[in-house]
Amino acid sequence: MKRIAVLASGRGSNFQAVIDAVGRGEVPAVCSALITDNPRAYAIDRAEKAGIPVFIVDYDASASKEEYEQALSEVMRAVAADGYILAGYMRILGTGIVREFRGRIINIHPALLPAFPGLHAQRQALACGVKVAGCTVHFVDEGMDSGPIIVQACVRVRQGDTEEMLAARILESEHRCLPAAIRLFCEDRLRIEGRLVRILPRTGESGSTNRA
Ligand code: GRF
Repeated sequence: MKRIAVLASGRGSNFQAVIDAVGRGEVPAVCSALITDNPRAYAIDRAEKAGIPVFIVDYDASASKEEYEQALSEVMRAVAADGYILAGYMRILGTGIVREFRGRIINIHPALLPAFPGLHAQRQALACGVKVAGCTVHFVDEGMDSGPIIVQACVRVRQGDTEEMLAARILESEHRCLPAAIRLFCEDRLRIEGRLVRILPRTGESGSTNRA
């Protein structure tokens, strides 16, 4: 069984989707830690309810970004997870951490990357007038939301959508895509080939897709 650690900064609904999917036996993993930069994150309550150990590396209490990254990398090493899931982790990981844990850090982003990286992705999508939005689960590289894509799902933009309405529908698809991607990771079915993530079929299957 693989061990996964989740990094979250706030509400933690994606973290909850992972907890629930693990609980239903849909993801062959143990969720062994929540790591957060925010001592007030609601994700902490979710972890405590689920009996998952919480590690707080308080960004605001750190003297510098370097000190914070140093403390974060020590916690990441100490929890010794196979995979580290950024589920609403609102900071950019330093290159040292990305290099040390390359191929083992996965992020969820509320847009069809490579369109609309960074903050307020749903607002950016509406401002561009796109008809289709969605979410992306990808491996983390040194760039911003730029690593190899594992799973994507489309969400139709409706006329009159506000940012909140679109974000709510994208969030529903995030809650399906993130566990689906973690499952593939935990089943050792992902191969990173440059920018491409090849999904290996289950024994007895012939094809593969990048859709959840
Ligand atoms: C999600 O939309 C996620 O894609 C983005 O931040 C939001 C976090 O939501 N990175 P939650 O904390 O998982 O509820």
